[in-house]
Amino acid sequence: MKLPEELQYIQNSLKPQKTTDARVDGKVCVISGTTSGVGYQAAKRLAQGGAHLVMINRSREKGQRVQAELTENFGVQVDLFIADFQELAEVQQAAFEIREKYPQIHLLINNAGVFNRRRRRTPDGHEMTYGVIHLASFLLTRLLIDNLIHGAPARVLYISSEAHRFGGFSIKDPNWHKRPYVGLWAYGAAKIAQIHTAQVFAERYSDSDVTFNILHPGAVRTNIGMNNGFLYRIYSRYVLHWFLKDPVSSGEAIYYLAADPSLEGVTGRFYNQTIEEKPAWYAVKPDLSEAVWQQSEDFVQPYLEETL
Ligand SMILES: NC(=O)c1ccc[n+]([C@@H]2O[C@H](COP(=O)([O-])OP(=O)(O)OC[C@H]3O[C@@H](n4cnc5c(N)ncnc54)[C@H](OP(=O)(O)O)[C@@H]3O)[C@@H](O)[C@H]2O)c1
Repeated sequence: MKLPEELQYIQNSLKPQKTTDARVDGKVCVISGTTSGVGYQAAKRLAQGGAHLVMINRSREKGQRVQAELTENFGVQVDLFIADFQELAEVQQAAFEIREKYPQIHLLINNAGVFNRRRRRTPDGHEMTYGVIHLASFLLTRLLIDNLIHGAPARVLYISSEAHRFGGFSIKDPNWHKRPYVGLWAYGAAKIAQIHTAQVFAERYSDSDVTFNILHPGAVRTNIGMNNGFLYRIYSRYVLHWFLKDPVSSGEAIYYLAADPSLEGVTGRFYNQTIEEKPAWYAVKPDLSEAVWQQSEDFVQPYLEETL
């Protein structure tokens, strides 16, 4: 039975996923949030494929642990930069250091993310999931774009979520000042904003040989949401985790989209792991995408300046 287009993600989630033997030896791969879950598995798979990893994490201690493990096990170069994505100034600082050190970047994976049951704000005043998932990755991509162009063919991947189908995004209220806060909607909203701007990146840089694609990494067992208090942690660990997959599969899917030759020149697409599908209709509206880009640009404007 074929489900309506909007529900095909359910079937796609159950299909066998693609893998690749392609290698990424020496390619400079920038990836955020590698201390656990999806990002850790992606970093590991990239290291196995020979990548030169450039990790951005907020915890130096956890980052160094992963750095030591991957260097020792795979013999690749693994560099670490520190930034808390709640602070756009820290994202800017890390991006400036990275673009100084690596004139050519071949892959950028925007992975770091958070889920909050209750409304929390970043020091910049943004709703936290919107700030960490969307604005930080938007700023990072904007600041690294010239180095990606110099590294072309280059790829940018956004680790999104089927949770964008929950909706929740409002261009009139991206920071949840006017509406009652619902954690799942705020999470979906941040992913929708990210999908909109990823499509604009794909459109604007269509002549550059830098591609921009978006993927849901599967519903997998990670630390996401574990910041939400004791009861949520118990629920997540002892109930939710039974229904979730091993995040090794997410690392494989991300690696496929990062490395497989069949993806050369493919841009602006959404994947359920490795299977292309249509995102929710409200995430594919060119006029709205342009407006979300402009709004995001306005929010990060102070950090696009060339001064530190
Ligand atoms: N798990 C799933 O089923 C699923 C499904 C769809 C999409 N995703 C997406 O996958 C991505 C990774 O999430 P995950 O599930 O792997 O969760 P996770 O295990 O909690 O990993 C999240 C990563 O992001 C980092 N991070 C969180 N807040 C940060 C901040 N303020 N600044 C810098 N780094 C920060 C975390 O660092 P710390 O270790 O310091 O906290 C960690 O490295 C997210 O974008 C999430 O939305 C996950």
